Amino acid sequence: MRTLILNAGEIAHMSSGDANMPLLGSEMSDKDLNVHSSGKGIVIESGVITGIAESDELETEFVPSWVSGNGSFDGSNVIDARDRAIIPGFVDSHTHLLWAGDRSNEIALRQRGMTYAQISEAGGGINKTVSETRKCTVEELVSMGKHRLSEAQALGTTTIEVKSGYGLSIDSELRLLEAYGHISEQSRMDIHTTWLGAHDFPKDKKRSEYMDELISDQLPRVAEQGLSRWVDVFCEPGWFDIEQTERIVVAAKGLGLTPRLHVDEFVDSGGLTLASELGSVSADHVAHSNDESRERASKAGTMQTFLPGTPYVLGSNDYPPIDKCLENEWAFSLATDFNPNCNSLSIPFTGSLASHRCGIDPISALAAVTRNPSTTLGYGDEVSVGSISVGMDADMNILKGSEVEMWCQTPGMNPISTTIIKGVL
Ligand code: NIG
Ligand code: FE
Repeated sequence: MRTLILNAGEIAHMSSGDANMPLLGSEMSDKDLNVHSSGKGIVIESGVITGIAESDELETEFVPSWVSGNGSFDGSNVIDARDRAIIPGFVDSHTHLLWAGDRSNEIALRQRGMTYAQISEAGGGINKTVSETRKCTVEELVSMGKHRLSEAQALGTTTIEVKSGYGLSIDSELRLLEAYGHISEQSRMDIHTTWLGAHDFPKDKKRSEYMDELISDQLPRVAEQGLSRWVDVFCEPGWFDIEQTERIVVAAKGLGLTPRLHVDEFVDSGGLTLASELGSVSADHVAHSNDESRERASKAGTMQTFLPGTPYVLGSNDYPPIDKCLENEWAFSLATDFNPNCNSLSIPFTGSLASHRCGIDPISALAAVTRNPSTTLGYGDEVSVGSISVGMDADMNILKGSEVEMWCQTPGMNPISTTIIKGVL
């Protein structure tokens, strides 16, 4: 069945140039390049965008009996956008979707001066979540994941990357990946699963033993069972150092997995340089990376993915220097980093941090949560999400206002009125 979206406000199509490549520098913020003015409509057939034209013309061609409102007219399903703006569905390229328990108490510890590392040593942090997550059955994980995905979807996310990493043992890491498989089968969203067995060292093993387990047991099982296409490592002094990260990633690449890594979150340990050398599609956090490594990442095609929600929840005003990427035309994305500390699946809130705290204009920030991250998710030369143009999947959001900038200007409130995934409301 054909679906028509008529009477659109501005449409941020984000499709200028080669849509298989990220937007860079000033082309990210250029409204002439990336936004259609109001009055257009969109044609969707079998979940794919097949036309974008003046709304009046589409009305005459397809639904002559339509006057206004949603419903079925002349054999087409009409969505009346009523001059509200339309933007692509969000691509959240960094989440830890599945974990159990609650660590809300850690904010008070941080306020008393404890660091992230000290909280972890005192029995909080990742390992606390691991104990809780290990108790969950696959069914419990699936139900938790579906609930969280529906929250993400209500906030406009239509494509999502999800990591394991709160199991830290063969059984529980495989259980998390298996749960993602079931969730993916039951969801209309595109779900991209990443193995993050190297998120931390479990308390019940020596570090060297866990390194061996990762490389000799977990990784081969993950690859054999086809549970993940990606490998991630929390590369940070105190967790996995440069040498350990390299060992894991080299082994994973040998089994066909592609790296996307946590690097340089708290200090510059050379993580971004390593990520580029290893051919990582994305290097995430990159809050403290040096400029030389950023330049090198850009040349190597490694996306810098900023997660401004993390300093926010850690109570820090040390926001990452995202604006440098705009100035230097280095490819960058933004993502939520949903995890027990950063308990938000709201891409609009991430956008608010980028625009209200990091000086990024709303259209650039929009490119960083749609088209740019879509290029890291392995679609190759035929990226089918992240922009609104003919041939793309019909993944989009109708906002509550007429101007596209609204998408990140309602902190704590949802700017999305309607989310459409593969043509379905
Ligand atoms: O990306 N830094 C590593 N992992 C998560 C946080 C993990 C946690 O605190 O549970 C992150 O910020
Ligand atoms: Fe993370």
